[in-house]
Amino acid sequence: MSREQNNELHIKNVSKTYPIEKGTLQVLDNINLDIKPGEFVSIVGSSGCGKSTLLKMMIGLENPTEGEIRIGERKVEKPSVDVGMVFQEARLYPWLTIEKNLRFGIQKDVPKEEHEKMIREHIELVGLKGFEKAYPAQFSGGMKQRASIARALIGNPQVLLLDEPFGALDAFTRINMQNEVLRIWELEKRTMVLVTHDIDEAIFLSDRIVILSERPGKIKEIIPVNLPRPRDRSTNLFLEIRKRILTSFLGNSELNIEYYI
Ligand SMILES: Nc1ncnc2c1ncn2[C@@H]1O[C@H](COP(=O)(O)OP(=O)(O)OP(=O)(O)O)[C@@H](O)[C@H]1O
Ligand SMILES: [Mg+2]
Repeated sequence: MSREQNNELHIKNVSKTYPIEKGTLQVLDNINLDIKPGEFVSIVGSSGCGKSTLLKMMIGLENPTEGEIRIGERKVEKPSVDVGMVFQEARLYPWLTIEKNLRFGIQKDVPKEEHEKMIREHIELVGLKGFEKAYPAQFSGGMKQRASIARALIGNPQVLLLDEPFGALDAFTRINMQNEVLRIWELEKRTMVLVTHDIDEAIFLSDRIVILSERPGKIKEIIPVNLPRPRDRSTNLFLEIRKRILTSFLGNSELNIEYYI
């Protein structure tokens, strides 16, 4: 299902300011980032530094105050089928079965006779075979997020944005979902951009990790993760990258860092 297209994501000189009651609030400051097709990039940074705002601009729900975002040749100004998004809370229609929820994600130009096959394939892709007729209320948190990922992917986006998709899940389900995302990413070869508070999650999944400063978010550092996948979270190389990220957050205080490792 991969696509041979120019779908490189370009974020160029992007700043974002929101009008607030007493003037303006600068949320992001001069972000520059190019993401290659099929790359997995995570964005980490403290709460309120503008991570969700950056994703919302990548999907076209918000527009930059300065600068521009492009996917290939297209300037991102409004939502379009080439970008999909998964949120922290699964946004499924509670009155529809999972099958019908997925049907809503299919692009308008796909012939009707292909729908059933696509729904079946995507339900299988996220490991929900047998639950086609179930309603979201019957699902665990992890299953709801699987369904959300399937609904985003069935629209055949070139870029999938994930905004803390596993933030509300318990630690075990979370690790399980990280393995699932890795499997899906390797199979589907989409560009994925993940916002997470979980440093291990970012290291486990990403080609590169973008560290944002506190608001207004600026790119502090971009850390490449050149480890073979699947990654073992207990190796020295993994722990070294974790230390590097924590140093970027906390400064060079060994005392603080040892506390987190
Ligand atoms: N529509 C809006 N109008 C005004 N301020 C906003 C708006 N949306 C977000 N903000 C503010 O912009 C800042 C960044 O918000 P954003 O949701 O992007 O942060 P975040 O990095 O995703 O935080 P978290 O990790 O808590 O999800 C916050 O201070 C938030 O209150
Ligand atoms: Mg957020």
